[in-house]
Amino acid sequence: MPALKILVIPGSLRTGSLNARLAAAAAHQFAQVGAEVTRISLADFPLPLYDGDLQSKSGVPKNAINLKRMIGAHHGVLLVTPEYNASVPPLVKNTIDWVTRVQDVHETRGQVFRGRAFAIAAASESRLGGMRALAALRLILSACHATVIPNQLALSFAGQAYDDMDRLKHLPDIEALGALVRQLIDVSQRMM
Ligand SMILES: Cc1cc2nc3c(=O)[nH]c(=O)nc-3n(C[C@H](O)[C@H](O)[C@H](O)COP(=O)(O)O)c2cc1C
Repeated sequence: MPALKILVIPGSLRTGSLNARLAAAAAHQFAQVGAEVTRISLADFPLPLYDGDLQSKSGVPKNAINLKRMIGAHHGVLLVTPEYNASVPPLVKNTIDWVTRVQDVHETRGQVFRGRAFAIAAASESRLGGMRALAALRLILSACHATVIPNQLALSFAGQAYDDMDRLKHLPDIEALGALVRQLIDVSQRMM
């Protein structure tokens, strides 16, 4: 069986992002259980705000096509999203919107979401840990017909959750992330 490839995407560009740190901790756990992990930054795939006129005039931007192909080259994807006003930030929604517009040869539009497993996580300073962003993201991905695994992680009080190596400090958080990691690997393997 080929090595299981997992793509980890933090949904924040901010220096010191709590979600980028959670993505780093998750990537470490995926690697520990033998997955081949790629952790990207959306800063490397800048996209304009979605505009149908822009798409009609210039087509789908190359960065959306590249990101779609990057997703397509992996068996499972972890999206780690901040919560903005009880939902996902514009960066996350805009990125997903553009990727749904990509249509490669011999594929239907949005096929990349249907062919692999997705996991979702969030980190926030609040008690809810970005739970409402996760509900919104699950709905968005489900509308794209993605398989979103049941386990998810809403990391509360995330400002106090990491050590200086960006690893989780508290056992319940480590266990919750571990359960998510194992389930994404399990479901991704079954979908290979
Ligand atoms: C516009 C805006 C809205 C926010 N709304 C929420 C919210 O609804 N719930 C929450 O827990 N945090 C909210 N926050 C705080 C973010 O969770 C916090 O800034 C977090 O650190 C952002 O993620 P990052 O560290 O990965 O960049 C909001 C922040 C901004 C800028």
